[in-house]
Amino acid sequence: MAEIAPSLLSADFSSLYEEVKKVESAGIKYLHFDIMDGHFVPNLTIGAMVVKSLRKKSSAIFDVHLMIENPDNYIEIFKDAGADIITVHQEACVHLHRTIQLIKNTKAIAGVAINPATSIELLEYILPEIDLILVMSVNPGFGGQKFIHTALVKIRALKTLINRKKLNIKIEVDGGINLETIKSVVGAGADLMVAGAAAFQNGDPQKAIQALYAEITK
Ligand code: DX5
Ligand code: ZN
Repeated sequence: MAEIAPSLLSADFSSLYEEVKKVESAGIKYLHFDIMDGHFVPNLTIGAMVVKSLRKKSSAIFDVHLMIENPDNYIEIFKDAGADIITVHQEACVHLHRTIQLIKNTKAIAGVAINPATSIELLEYILPEIDLILVMSVNPGFGGQKFIHTALVKIRALKTLINRKKLNIKIEVDGGINLETIKSVVGAGADLMVAGAAAFQNGDPQKAIQALYAEITK
């Protein structure tokens, strides 16, 4: 079944643990952490310290999305902080194959993210090495942006490619997922959907997650 990974980017940071508890009470398995460096993307967010402090209090699968330059320098740090999935951006990696090996050496699940303008063909020769592809359906940097519909074409093409090559790669989709868009994203072939604003911005994260799950199961 497709799963929802709430993105803490839109949570109330003054009571982060309470926010985590609220989405956990809706039965989520994954928690998405958006790590931004102010260079690869025009925004600064949280670092490994926040991941580490929540790790002590949550048994969810920690899905760490690194929107940073030079991710090689931080892979072990995030793994030690408690990351289960580490996703780097194709656009930020000069030697992507090496970066993926670094992630795999830590025994984390290895993900590669691609921006809306990046073609899936750029991943062709590393497909057998990766566990997860994160398709960005907004330009990374901020929560609450509008879903870019061409992402659906990309998800479908990726699903076909993965099936044709008989690979075991999860497709994650990130950006603009809400009650209006989630069903078509699942229909296109997504396994894991990130929800930031849709999860946290209506004041009742538990109810919001339940409504998103209801949308994909009906
Ligand atoms: C954007 C981040 C997303 C973001 C999604 O750069 O990678 O994870 O939090 O937020 P929404 O769901 O609000 O588009
Ligand atoms: Zn993200």
